[in-house]
Amino acid sequence: MGNVIDGKALAKAIRKAVKAKVSPLTERTGVVPTLAAVLVGEDPGSQTYVRSKERACKRCGMRSVTQRLPDTTSEAELLAIVQRLNDDPAVHGILVQLPLPAHIDVERVVGAISPDKDVDGFHAETLGRLMRGSPTFLPCTPAGVMHILDSIPVEWKGKEAVIVGRSLIVGKPLFFLLLERHMTVTVCHSRTRDLGDVVRRADLVVAAVGNAHLVKGDWIKPGAVVVDVGINRLADGSLAGDVDFDAALANSSYITPVPGGVGRLTVAMLMENVYRAAVLQTSG
Ligand code: GUN
Repeated sequence: MGNVIDGKALAKAIRKAVKAKVSPLTERTGVVPTLAAVLVGEDPGSQTYVRSKERACKRCGMRSVTQRLPDTTSEAELLAIVQRLNDDPAVHGILVQLPLPAHIDVERVVGAISPDKDVDGFHAETLGRLMRGSPTFLPCTPAGVMHILDSIPVEWKGKEAVIVGRSLIVGKPLFFLLLERHMTVTVCHSRTRDLGDVVRRADLVVAAVGNAHLVKGDWIKPGAVVVDVGINRLADGSLAGDVDFDAALANSSYITPVPGGVGRLTVAMLMENVYRAAVLQTSG
């Protein structure tokens, strides 16, 4: 029977550690680390995420400023706002909430964020640095996954990791982070043949596809660690992960629940990035 990892407790500890670093920085330099979030449109999920980022900043003794824009905002207007935030010395981290309305080119907008303020870790330069092994900012969800792995007493070197999902936000960056830990990493996706057979090899399974209960309990090798990044809303309104949790629990040694697992850590890791951005941009 697996140990269920308490993402809420881990996130709280990260926020506490960030707060403990922010106070002396502010006392010494007068700098209050500041996150600027930009939210375009009325997507309810995005509104919830942005509110939780605002709340987390406050809890860590940091400032957040949110620009809420109508979904009729043009790409040029959004690019001008990003440029203004790049130029504002009182703003240390910039986050443009995704998804953006269809008429706006995400690549252009993410590419316009200064890499020094790219606390989401989505800019090509930030991802390139990660691939080269000298990251500035880690994308927040993969950073949360790595924090979870560090909280488990397992020697990861040489172990087999299987990532299910090849997104730019989770699967691809995580590939490089696990490789840095000397794991043998396989990335699976919708075209992977015999997905269950690949997952059965894994000492570590990371599910990040956005497909409720895709990963079956009997795919989990006895003693494997299971990290479920998926957050899927079911027809009855409840949340489910990408892993069939109840069935996987029996085989795993450690497993993250949904909700209350990785999701909790994503925002906490963002706080760490905002603090680091502030330090990098000041003499602090
Ligand atoms: N939309 C879903 N996840 C994220 C995230 O981590 N950052 C941003 N900016 N948008 C998102």
